[in-house]
Order: sequence, then structure tokens, then C-alpha cells
Amino acid sequence: MTWDPEALPHAVGKTIAVTGANAGIGYFSSEQFARAGAHVILACRDPERAEAAVSAIRRRVPGASVEAMPLDVADRSSVAAAAAALAEREHLDVLLLNAGIVHAPNQRATDAYGNELVLSTNVLGHFALTALTMPVLERTAGARVVSLGSLATLLARFPLDDLQLVDDYTSWKAYAQSKIAMQTFGFELHRRLRAAGSGVSSLVVHPGYSTSGRTPGIRGVNQPSHAKRFVDNLQAAWTQGKDHGAWSPVRASLDPDAQSGQFYGPRLATKGRPFLDRATRTSRSPRVGARLWPLLEEYSGQRFELG
Ligand SMILES: NC(=O)c1ccc[n+]([C@@H]2O[C@H](COP(=O)([O-])OP(=O)(O)OC[C@H]3O[C@@H](n4cnc5c(N)ncnc54)[C@H](OP(=O)(O)O)[C@@H]3O)[C@@H](O)[C@H]2O)c1
Repeated sequence: MTWDPEALPHAVGKTIAVTGANAGIGYFSSEQFARAGAHVILACRDPERAEAAVSAIRRRVPGASVEAMPLDVADRSSVAAAAAALAEREHLDVLLLNAGIVHAPNQRATDAYGNELVLSTNVLGHFALTALTMPVLERTAGARVVSLGSLATLLARFPLDDLQLVDDYTSWKAYAQSKIAMQTFGFELHRRLRAAGSGVSSLVVHPGYSTSGRTPGIRGVNQPSHAKRFVDNLQAAWTQGKDHGAWSPVRASLDPDAQSGQFYGPRLATKGRPFLDRATRTSRSPRVGARLWPLLEEYSGQRFELG
């Protein structure tokens, strides 16, 4: 099917939760969902930034149905509280696992439980959140979990014996490994859901190369400096705005023909309309997925059994 990211199918009646929705791709995904008529829950760690994003969507999308929910994905109690709040909903049609540290710290940092911070934020919190929201997803016909991967997965190794990067940390490794882990998680979740006979789908996406300097300015959401706009525009040939970066996650969430286990990304790799793509062999590997899962359980402190 051809897909027009600017003519989305109606999503009236759907409830969609987006992590890290106050900025970037999470914000624009939320805005596009709201424009399609969905009720959107913006799950964000900073209440002021969350309210700015909610107000911006209300301003830009007349009649939008949106709300903010507190969620710090690197904080286990916050993840548990958000999952409990989502579990009370009648249905949850899409859980978009978007939040992330994109510019990883130069020095290795850890969360309150001793886990490397980028792994904790980009992967472990999402793993636990998905496990804890499974009951509401299971009782929603056609529910989807959509995980944010990256082109960075093409450029890095994935040493499962050093996911925490204890002795060998660099910011690049931390980011790239976290994105490989996220893709591997999404595909392994797909296999486990199918094996358990679940009706929930798991899809994986990447947003190409999307920069804030190429993104519309929105008060409280995206206000890049003139210098940032200038530098980002020099890369216009191979980059896009985060409004377009949202196209792949939105397609994976709303395309009625999209199926569990699929991978969507921009047609020109770094930019363009979303199309059905092929993820790296490592992230699709059942062997790697089976090895990763118990590590995610151990590091997140969250059992995740299906069926
Ligand atoms: N942009 C790209 O070219 C690109 C490429 C490949 C993959 N991706 C992926 O796409 C996703 C979004 O990227 P982006 O470019 O939109 O990044 P961004 O503009 O930096 O936005 C990241 C969002 O995640 C939130 N976040 C960070 N830590 C959090 C935490 N502990 N709890 C809750 N929310 C948290 C941020 O909230 P705060 O405002 O509170 O920090 C922000 O809302 C990420 O998963 C990234 O890896 C992006």
C-alpha cells in the first residue's frame, strides 16, 4: 500500500502513549497522532516541558485530545507508576517507546541501580514499562508496541557480555549499543508474542537522521538557535526535520497493513517517506534476542514472561 504521511487514517477512538513526548520525534509523533484523532498520552519526565508540549498540540491541532503523564524511564518507581496509570485505561492501542538520550555523556554515568545510564534510559525503562503494561495491551484488540531503533545499528558491534560498558565506555558505543538492544528487544518481543499466541504486535522503526535545526520552531518544544539552524541547514541534503523523523513511528503505529515483526524507516535511509525496510541481521537474530532478554530482566529488575 502507498502511504501518505500527511493523510493519515482516522485514529479516533485509539489511545496512544508516547514516551519522551515533549520534544523531537516524540512530540511530532504525538502531534500527528492527535491530528489523526487519537487520544494521546504524552509521558514525560519534566512536568513543565510536558505541559508546554500539550499546550502546543492544543494550539496547533484544534480539538486535540491530549494529556500529560509523568514518566522518567530511568526511574523504576516512575515507570511502575506510569504503567499502573496506563493499566487503568480501558484500552491502550499503541505504546511508542521513543524516549532516549541521543547525546550520551562523555563519561560513563549510572542510574540509581548501578546500570549504565544510556542503557537504562533508552532500553531498560522501556523493557519494564512494556512488561508492566502488557495486561492493558493484551485486552486491546490490535494493540501495538513500537520501538525506536537507529541507523547507528549499522555501525557498531553488540558485545552482549559488556552491555554495561564497565571498562570500555565511549558515548558512541553507549548510544549505538542501546539502539541495537532496542531493535533486538522489539524483534524478540514479536517472536515471544507470536509464540504465546498474543494479539499484540511489536514493530521496530528508525527515523533516519533528523535534526532540530531542520524542524519547525514551536514555543517550549523546539527553539534552536540561529547558529544551530545555520549548521543543520548545511546538512540539508541528507537530513530532515524531526517532524519528518516522526513519519516512520507514526506509520508503524497507524498503518492498518503494518504487521508485527516489521521494520520501517525513511526511503532514502536518512530522510524521506516511511517504507518497509530491513533491519540489521544482529538485531533480527533469534539467538541474540534470546540471550539479550534475560539480561534485560536482570538489569531492569523486571521479569517479563508471556503466555
Ligand atoms: N533524531 C535522530 O536523527 C534519531 C536517529 C535515530 C534514532 N533516534 C531515536 O529517536 C528517539 C527520539 O530522538 P530525538 O532526536 O527526538 O531526541 P530528543 O529531541 O533529544 O528528544 C528525546 C526525548 O526523550 C526524553 N527523555 C530523555 N531521557 C528521558 C527519561 N529519563 N525519561 C523520560 N523521557 C526522557 C527527552 O525529555 P527531556 O526534554 O526531559 O530531556 C525528550 O523528550 C530516541 O530514541 C533516539 O534514539 C533519533
